[in-house]
Amino acid sequence: MARRKVILDCDPGHDDAVSIIIAASQKSDLDILGITTTAGNVEVEKTTCNALKISTLLDIDAPIFQGAKRPMVKAAEIAPEIHGETGMDGPKLPEPKITAEEKHAVDFIVDTLKQADGKVTLVPTGPLTNIAMALIKAPEVKGKIDEIVLMGGGTFGNWTPAAEFNIYVDAEAAKVVFDSNLPITMFGLDVTHQVIATKGLRERFSAIDNKISHFVVELLEFFGKTNEELFGFDGGPIHDACTTMYLIQPELFNFKHVNVEIETKGEYTYGMTAVDLYNVTGRIPHVKFADSVDQEAFWQLFGEILSSYSR
Ligand code: RIB
Ligand code: CA
Repeated sequence: MARRKVILDCDPGHDDAVSIIIAASQKSDLDILGITTTAGNVEVEKTTCNALKISTLLDIDAPIFQGAKRPMVKAAEIAPEIHGETGMDGPKLPEPKITAEEKHAVDFIVDTLKQADGKVTLVPTGPLTNIAMALIKAPEVKGKIDEIVLMGGGTFGNWTPAAEFNIYVDAEAAKVVFDSNLPITMFGLDVTHQVIATKGLRERFSAIDNKISHFVVELLEFFGKTNEELFGFDGGPIHDACTTMYLIQPELFNFKHVNVEIETKGEYTYGMTAVDLYNVTGRIPHVKFADSVDQEAFWQLFGEILSSYSR
């Protein structure tokens, strides 16, 4: 059977890096057509540098394209307090052996969708600026997208009381995506906070004892520390990893079909994903919303993925 074609759109980012590692592993049957970067956790130059470093470390055979320098309307907001100045503080990484392509990420997304034989899955794990701009630039490519599998939003916030970071940074872009009538599978904080890489899990994965498992543990040590300091968690929730774990083993997750509207006006609610869990609005339940995960099975598969890098 043909491998599933994906474009990973990201802002590495500790958990973006983990998501890429999952997608590039031997346990995954994904055909990574390209990695596109956006401003988000840190400036787009830094997220791109991080993507190049990850790709070098994993020897990923996929081109990397730099994307949006800022959101469509608002000024950029970054999160160095969570990801550090580089956006991926903690592990020591080799300098990249490759450079980003000349083409802009949005043009890569549009051209790839136009030229693809068959459909492509978009996997955004940062602000949705690139995805929205591609849909605005070339709405005709919608027919070539089989699913948008995204990390963002939730029934509560982590950047404001109402809004999660990825959606908050560019709520206008999120509105374009959520109003696109495309199939959206949404991994928000409700489910990503159920996959926290605790000290015990980090010790378990350290024992796998290969280059990638040690890299991941170093990522999770730093990410765990900042999440413990800022949110009082006992580790870092590997938010973005939910997207690629779902693509490998969808049955890990439970979903509800719900209506989701994006708030772009509220003084206190800008960037909120209004998740209509009980369909009180009667609006079309157009989003596949992940509300729970089989944590034991999730971490079992995660360990197998890290072990697959031993061979
Ligand atoms: O709110 C969590 C999200 O914001 C994750 O994608 C993380 O990488 C940051 O981008
Ligand atoms: Ca991210």
